[in-house]
Amino acid sequence: MDRIRIRGGQPLTGKIRIGGAKNAALPLMVASLLTDETLTLSNLPHLADIQTLAHLLQQHGVAVELSADGDGREVAEGRVMSLRAAHIDNLVAPYELVRRMRASVLVLGPLVARFGEARVSLPGGCAIGTRPVNLHIDGLKALGAEIEIVGGYIEARAKNGLKGTILRLPQVSVGATEDLLMAAALADGVTVLENAAREPEVSDLARCLVAMGAEIEGIGSERLVITGKPRLHGARYRIMGDRIETGTYAIAAVISGGDLELVDADLEVIGVVAEALRAAGAEVDATKAGVRVQRNGGVIRGVDVMTQPFPGFPTDMQAQFMTLMTVAEGAAMVTETIFENRFMHVPELARMGANITVHGASAMIRGVPSLNGAPVMATDLRASVSLVLAGLAASGETMINRVYHLDRGYERLEEKLAACGADIERLKG
Ligand code: EPZ
Repeated sequence: MDRIRIRGGQPLTGKIRIGGAKNAALPLMVASLLTDETLTLSNLPHLADIQTLAHLLQQHGVAVELSADGDGREVAEGRVMSLRAAHIDNLVAPYELVRRMRASVLVLGPLVARFGEARVSLPGGCAIGTRPVNLHIDGLKALGAEIEIVGGYIEARAKNGLKGTILRLPQVSVGATEDLLMAAALADGVTVLENAAREPEVSDLARCLVAMGAEIEGIGSERLVITGKPRLHGARYRIMGDRIETGTYAIAAVISGGDLELVDADLEVIGVVAEALRAAGAEVDATKAGVRVQRNGGVIRGVDVMTQPFPGFPTDMQAQFMTLMTVAEGAAMVTETIFENRFMHVPELARMGANITVHGASAMIRGVPSLNGAPVMATDLRASVSLVLAGLAASGETMINRVYHLDRGYERLEEKLAACGADIERLKG
């Protein structure tokens, strides 16, 4: 298994290009199931999760092709994915694939909406929380699907198609909003989806569906009104930039005392993270090419944050921000409200000398003058990258194990950081 070795203490300077958003790309790929015409997605990130989902879609019968970007912004092999779901011959999403990546559950709504049935494995447990899929199931039932759980699988049927309805999500869920949005796009009549997630990735999906012929009002708001269409058509769509990758490298700049320009980043979608970084002592500004983040010698100040659905502080930035707080002057309180078990990075950070006390959903971080390198490992993507950030700031050597978590969501992480002066390398094995 690969490992990453970091020798900390170098301020990072230079430019890092931000890729397409993993959490936008995954539902956008699934949207290809809604039409028999070709959906072409550009700005595709090269990540393990993208390959896993492509594999799942292929086993349903989707023809998947990769090519170079043709929209003039870049020419890089494999940045464009064309998906054509003209011959779907398998409506089963098997356990082996769904358990590897929970976003696979998103095929449920589109398959039932277009083909009147689907059999999708329940994903099972997850390192960051129980993560049930009841909101997907209840929402599809409200749209008229009959659903049973048999042998660990969700068996859904809607022989006469789905019917539009008024549906209020009891809790904000990104995945359930995306699943139901796709299902409603092919339902008969109007669906009103209240308390919908407002994450930019949801809006990216909605805009792509509109490009495919869907009628959706209220994009970006908590009330989506979807007028179902009998069929959607193909489209070309550019995937939005990754706001979590942006926020992560922004913290790399701040924690290392450096100055990075994040090319193709969008300051607007990292609003609350940028505010927290400014409060901590960083300068964060929009540039022509993206976003510049710097900390020129100033101290890092303690800042309290609480994770919330968008536009609140993202749970996917919690571990990285906590890492920054470990070397702040003073104390900070980080509260996690989205997932019940997303502090798995705390004991690893403690091994590097961080002073963190967890009380339920809150962690009190008392800043220390510096972290010390250590061998560490993590159980999920964002926790893993938080250890990379800690390693960049620490004195001595940090060895990150279980690098496969990083490969799920950060493309060429060690190359991007090394190009800006980090002493970081991947050890194969
Ligand atoms: C998406 O997961 C992201 N994944 C996650 O990113 C992200 O952390 C999360 O949204 C929150 O922003 C993708 O987009 C592929 P939710 P999702 O449904 O859709 C509960 C990363 O690191 N819930 O918004 O699965 C759930 O347990 C990943 O890139 C139910 O109770 O998240 C959680 O507590 C990790 N029942 C809360 O809602 C349901 O049916 C929010 O989950 C669905 C969710």
